[in-house]
Amino acid sequence: MSEMIRIGQGFDAHRFCEASDDRPLVIGGVVIPHDRGLLAHSDGDVAIHALCDALLGAAGLPDIGHFFPDTDQRYKGVDSTELLAKVVAELEEAGWQIENVDLTIIAQAPKISPWITDMKKSLADLLRVSSMAVGVKATTSEGMGFTGRAEGIATLAVALLTRN
Ligand code: CDP
Ligand code: ZN
Repeated sequence: MSEMIRIGQGFDAHRFCEASDDRPLVIGGVVIPHDRGLLAHSDGDVAIHALCDALLGAAGLPDIGHFFPDTDQRYKGVDSTELLAKVVAELEEAGWQIENVDLTIIAQAPKISPWITDMKKSLADLLRVSSMAVGVKATTSEGMGFTGRAEGIATLAVALLTRN
């Protein structure tokens, strides 16, 4: 049988909470020192959410909200690495192999680059691929739009899957 190759894309955005809310900022499974975390039903890991949707999209499966509804109390405050692990298990069950993924984190602040090596390692472990198969970049939006005003953080992701 010939090899199937499938691409998927994902996007997510979350608003910053108030500094007084005292939520940690978690991106790509890494806790980043910052005065504000992201508001969400889960831990608000915007990078993992975009990545889950890219993976699910490539497999032609429904999105993250279908698998983990934000109305479900089981997922309140959930560590998003658990959601990604479940998505990876779902793909494996369907016979898909992850070839590579690539993420762009759009944030005016904080500075993401010091944490990129840790994020790649954390994501590669969860995806069970080499760090070389995980791209993570960060950019500002040059002060424009909601990310530019530091109202929140957005992430774009793509994923490539194969199946024999
Ligand atoms: O237009 P360009 O993306 O080059 O410029 P920028 O948005 O000012 O970002 C410059 C560099 O800062 C990026 O290449 C990232 O390596 C880094 N960066 C970061 O570490 N954390 C952010 N929140 C935004 C940018
Ligand atoms: Zn999200």
